[in-house]
Amino acid sequence: MRPSRQLPLMGLLFFSLIPSQLCQICEVNETNFSRLEPLINTMLKANYTKGIQGANVLLTLRLVGIKSRNLEQQLSQQIKDDINSRETELTSGQLALGILALGACENQDKEFIRGAHLVSKLGARFQAEIQNMEAHDGSPLTNYYQLSVALLALCLFNGSYSITNVTYYFTPENKNFYFEDQFSVDTGAMAALALTCVRRNTQKRVEAITEDKIANYTASLVKKIQAEGKRGLFGNIFSTGEAMQALFISSDYYKNEANCRETLHTVFYNISQTAFNLPIATAQILPALMGKTYLDVTNPFCSHNPVRFNVSTEKPDTVTPAAAPLDILVKYSVRVNDTSHTEVTVRAGSVFLDVMKAAQKKNETLFRFTVEETSWGPYVTSVQGIRASSNDRTYWKLLSNGQPLSQGAASHVVQNGDNLEVRWSKY
Ligand SMILES: *[C@@H]1O[C@H](CO)[C@@H](O)[C@H](O)[C@H]1NC(C)=O
Ligand SMILES: *[C@@H]1O[C@H](CO)[C@@H](O)[C@H](O)[C@H]1NC(C)=O
Ligand SMILES: *[C@@H]1O[C@H](CO)[C@@H](O)[C@H](O)[C@H]1NC(C)=O
Ligand SMILES: *[C@@H]1O[C@H](CO)[C@@H](O)[C@H](O)[C@H]1NC(C)=O
Ligand SMILES: *[C@@H]1O[C@H](CO)[C@@H](O)[C@H](O)[C@H]1NC(C)=O
Ligand SMILES: *[C@@H]1O[C@H](CO)[C@@H](O)[C@H](O)[C@H]1NC(C)=O
Ligand SMILES: *[C@@H]1O[C@H](CO)[C@@H](O)[C@H](O)[C@H]1NC(C)=O
Ligand SMILES: *[C@@H]1O[C@H](CO)[C@@H](O)[C@H](O)[C@H]1NC(C)=O
Ligand SMILES: *[C@@H]1O[C@H](CO)[C@@H](O)[C@H](O)[C@H]1NC(C)=O
Ligand SMILES: *[C@@H]1O[C@H](CO)[C@@H](O)[C@H](O)[C@H]1NC(C)=O
Repeated sequence: MRPSRQLPLMGLLFFSLIPSQLCQICEVNETNFSRLEPLINTMLKANYTKGIQGANVLLTLRLVGIKSRNLEQQLSQQIKDDINSRETELTSGQLALGILALGACENQDKEFIRGAHLVSKLGARFQAEIQNMEAHDGSPLTNYYQLSVALLALCLFNGSYSITNVTYYFTPENKNFYFEDQFSVDTGAMAALALTCVRRNTQKRVEAITEDKIANYTASLVKKIQAEGKRGLFGNIFSTGEAMQALFISSDYYKNEANCRETLHTVFYNISQTAFNLPIATAQILPALMGKTYLDVTNPFCSHNPVRFNVSTEKPDTVTPAAAPLDILVKYSVRVNDTSHTEVTVRAGSVFLDVMKAAQKKNETLFRFTVEETSWGPYVTSVQGIRASSNDRTYWKLLSNGQPLSQGAASHVVQNGDNLEVRWSKY
């Protein structure tokens, strides 16, 4: 798992974007909506997400126009409570997502955004990220995914940001778009959305030359996204939804209907494999499948045409209970400069995090660790007391049989005989 990306309008701030000059969207035809029902059902489990971590789901419910009044109210309340009680601890990306979710599609929460001065606070957070880059060799406090969400929210909600900073720091060659030499698709996609907003922003006109430059950045980012395309997906299944949004707004990729069919075909297959089993994963792909982008958040027609899905009311996941819980044996190691090995026994069906806990129980000195809750689940922040640092671009990489995990520690199910490793790494 990579370093945490997430984290994490009243008279106020509505300005009209030049009506979403979409190049070409690729959406699911309503005759195929039943294919999306598993996604909707997963999102409704967001009932169990805590605090600000429900922001992505609330944003999607509102943007797509899924009517679930109770869930919407619950999420909105918990996000506001979380902001009230620990606003200073929230990262730039978390605060930005909170604003996008609360402010999406003209609703009463805009009073809260205004009353709590969230947009100007976000502006200060954005500046702090820039200052950290100036002081720490170009490394932000969090990462470029969060910085991009912050810029997007500032742009959509009439916040302040420096255009010079944007043109300086968002060049597509910036190291922060890369993760161990790999272009980060979701980061690039979010930046493309933010830059497009900045370019079209009617409240803060930019000079033609700057507009041109930003258009070039966006085009280049979108090219890099397309270069990561494989069987209709971009990056991996979790980055594909945001990649689609970026392609909608600044490429003609989906003018070719075969491209759209390929993406939808693969996504439907992945849905049938229950690949999107976290509320956040669902929330990030659904807007694109319904033909929406995050630029629609402040669009006056945002919540028109609400969608009716057949939501299964009383059908929790049919977990077939194993006849008898089996124990499995796995190898586990922690590598810094030296490697500490152990073997632990866990129940069949255990996840990576269970193995870490079992090892910690065996030897606290060698295997102690800490995590931080994010909307993608717990994220490992330290092992043996050694902490990941965004200034040094260090993190704890989780591997199974030599391959980095594509899911978080609490999602990746381990198998008997697996060789699991936590490795001190640089990105
Ligand atoms: C946006 O903010 C500027 C000041 O920064 C203000 O003059 C303008 O009226 C605001 N626009 C809206 C739509 O609130
Ligand atoms: C959905 O597909 C049907 C059948 O192909 C077509 O008639 C209809 O226009 C499509 N709807 C949209 C919104 O594209
Ligand atoms: C919901 O179920 C009804 C009856 O089974 C069906 O006619 C309708 O097409 C379904 N709607 C969606 C969006 O799947
Ligand atoms: C959340 O789930 C619990 C337990 O299933 C249920 O009692 C509660 O009504 C749900 N809340 C909402 C808003 O759906
Ligand atoms: C970023 O913006 C701040 C405030 O406007 C300015 O002082 C600083 O020079 C800018 N840095 C760059 C690299 O553009
Ligand atoms: C944008 O790209 C075009 C074509 O590559 C180039 O001619 C132009 O000079 C670029 N504009 C800026 C401001 O960099
Ligand atoms: C519905 O999805 C199937 C499977 O991807 C596809 O073959 C079909 O063309 C889709 N129908 C419409 C109307 O888009
Ligand atoms: C998603 O679909 C792709 C392409 O068919 C496939 O390679 C991948 O294994 C699928 N992932 C999941 C988790 O279903
Ligand atoms: C690993 O070894 C290098 C070189 O000996 C040393 O500088 C570094 O501090 C060590 N790292 C840790 C986390 O012990
Ligand atoms: C944990 O490992 C260290 C280093 O190998 C060892 O000295 C210590 O005795 C172990 N502690 C336990 C409780 O096994």
